[in-house]
Amino acid sequence: MRINQYIAASGVCSRRKADEIIEEGRVRVNGSVLDVLGYHVQEGDVIEVDGVRIEPETKKVYYLLNKPMGYVTSTADKEGRPVVTELVPDDVRVFPVGRLDFNTTGLLILTNDGDLANKLMHPSGEFDKKYLVRAAGIVTRKEAEILSKGVDIGGFVTGPAEVYLIKHDRNSTIAEITIHEGKNRQVRRMFEAIGHPVQELCRTGLGNLTIGKLAIGQCRKLSPAEVEYLKRV
Ligand code: URA
Repeated sequence: MRINQYIAASGVCSRRKADEIIEEGRVRVNGSVLDVLGYHVQEGDVIEVDGVRIEPETKKVYYLLNKPMGYVTSTADKEGRPVVTELVPDDVRVFPVGRLDFNTTGLLILTNDGDLANKLMHPSGEFDKKYLVRAAGIVTRKEAEILSKGVDIGGFVTGPAEVYLIKHDRNSTIAEITIHEGKNRQVRRMFEAIGHPVQELCRTGLGNLTIGKLAIGQCRKLSPAEVEYLKRV
């Protein structure tokens, strides 16, 4: 088994991320820092990540978390901020699939299934992502139409999106937006592009999965049907 597969199968992170942590010098094989990305793990090898021995998990687990504000979408944070994996009550190590910003709330999948994570994060298989947004000021229908056709967010023009204006007061607008891509900070950058910075952001849906009534900070296991759905799409 290639080292990146071994790391993913151990529930540390996805295969792609595994290549990054190898390049960062965080992986040791039999005590020595590994500097070969394509290394094939041999029978009897002792593999460590950040000094902790890892071994492939057999049991796969899948959680849906309602991420609170003030949590980093990661398994560890250099600055010591809270991380989303602390909110999963399982002895099995899991990692987040994709990213929500520190101050974004809502639907996040956590798993130890590196293959599924890879599939979900691959740009060709992007799931629709639905967000509830509070944006500064009053977003007009015209501006919503501009957003839905695509805007330049700095070197990238977004694809078609569905935008619904729900309500507004004098200071802000509540809208729902569904995007089909997953660029870094995409929703915030889209609303910045039309002059209405995001004040609050919550992901409410991913494909046909929804956050439902799950309270902030709570997580639940995905049902077998939901897992099948994610694997199949
Ligand atoms: N878009 C953003 O701008 N931030 C997120 O956290 C998710 C999508």
